[in-house]
Amino acid sequence: MTAPDDSAVRNADRLRADMVRALLDQDAITSESVTAAFAAVPRHRFAPEAPLDLVYDLHSTVPVKKDAHGLDTSVMSAAHLQGVMLEQAGIRPGMNVLEIGSGGYNAALIQELVGGAGEVTTVDIDRDVIDRARRCLDDAGYGQVKTVLADGESGAADGAPYDRIIVTAAAWDIAPAWISGLAGEGRLVVPLTVRGTTRSIAFDRDGESLLGRSYRLARFVPMQGQGAAKEERTVLLRDGVVVQSDDDRVRLNAPALNRALDTPRLLRWSQAAYDLPDELELYLTLNLPSTARLHASRNIVDSGLVEASTLLGVPALVSEDSIAYRTRRENDDTGGFESGVVAHGPQAEALARQYVELLQTWAHHHRRRGAAEIRYLPGPAQGALPRGMVPKRHGVVAVTWH
Ligand SMILES: C[S@@+](CC[C@H](N)C(=O)[O-])C[C@H]1O[C@@H](n2cnc3c(N)ncnc32)[C@H](O)[C@@H]1O
Repeated sequence: MTAPDDSAVRNADRLRADMVRALLDQDAITSESVTAAFAAVPRHRFAPEAPLDLVYDLHSTVPVKKDAHGLDTSVMSAAHLQGVMLEQAGIRPGMNVLEIGSGGYNAALIQELVGGAGEVTTVDIDRDVIDRARRCLDDAGYGQVKTVLADGESGAADGAPYDRIIVTAAAWDIAPAWISGLAGEGRLVVPLTVRGTTRSIAFDRDGESLLGRSYRLARFVPMQGQGAAKEERTVLLRDGVVVQSDDDRVRLNAPALNRALDTPRLLRWSQAAYDLPDELELYLTLNLPSTARLHASRNIVDSGLVEASTLLGVPALVSEDSIAYRTRRENDDTGGFESGVVAHGPQAEALARQYVELLQTWAHHHRRRGAAEIRYLPGPAQGALPRGMVPKRHGVVAVTWH
């Protein structure tokens, strides 16, 4: 007769093998080394209290800790995202790697990648999380991973310089200690929030600045401590409709924008293709002259007040009393979609025209994957920044399109 423990282990092994196959099928992982790491580390040993099917679901996070409002402050990240970020990091045997934001599992994957000659340090700001990570790492046989309780904003100077630094909480800016803690040829992989959207960006050192090699949409719990985001403003227009901006030059006049939504909608089609939404969104948020994000709830969308593009948040062009945002419709000729603009308020016509021009420019000149080059320039912003440049606390994000 088989002991229950044996069958549970076989079940977990089978689910892990399925997960690795699915990660490969979905191109989240592509290299032999990352594939071998995912096959080797028993993911369920880092979430012993969670059901196996949740633990091994590619796109699910596993809750670890919540705040007083029930919001996650720590989760085991989804395997799909971990795979993407480890591929971005390009970790090789013998490297010295720092992970900021802990849990144990990702650190164990990194330990597999660096091997016996490499070193892994993982830092978390939360004592419960780091203690739990320590227990899970020891239990799963990864006692050599160093765990540190600290605010990762200061890096972990004792172990520097690092060949790779991987941040696993959404960062509003790049801490100076992450750059100074990188080795000369080092790489920083960080989920960086720019104009309200978070992308995992792999940055290589390029002299004093950082040059982004790749960028992928990512969702993460927010960074706490010194580096926590404080700049994001969220303004309620009415129940179920908010606008957000982290650009202090953008005035969000809630009563006037709310009144605008009650004026008749102006709809303008661009005759330009709509696809690659993450690429288009990056272009729009960095090139719209006065930009915010418009979010609406499902019942507001169902009422017909705003389009479905607002459900996940859509780049909006705002003025004192008017607002314009992107929509789309099926294109019968091509079988794809065409982008368009909905605008409300006294300046609807002018805002819609500006927005449509950007949709056309993107579609005609930049509509492909990886068209943007993202740089991080440390140091204070000098004077008024041109479009494509976003001031941060410790530097400037500069995006150009080819
Ligand atoms: C998504 S979880 C990390 C997941 C983990 N890497 C894994 O193996 O799945 C994000 C973690 O970042 C931590 N964190 C948030 N702000 C931090 C900071 N300033 N310094 C260090 N850790 C931080 C949170 O406590 C949380 O545990």
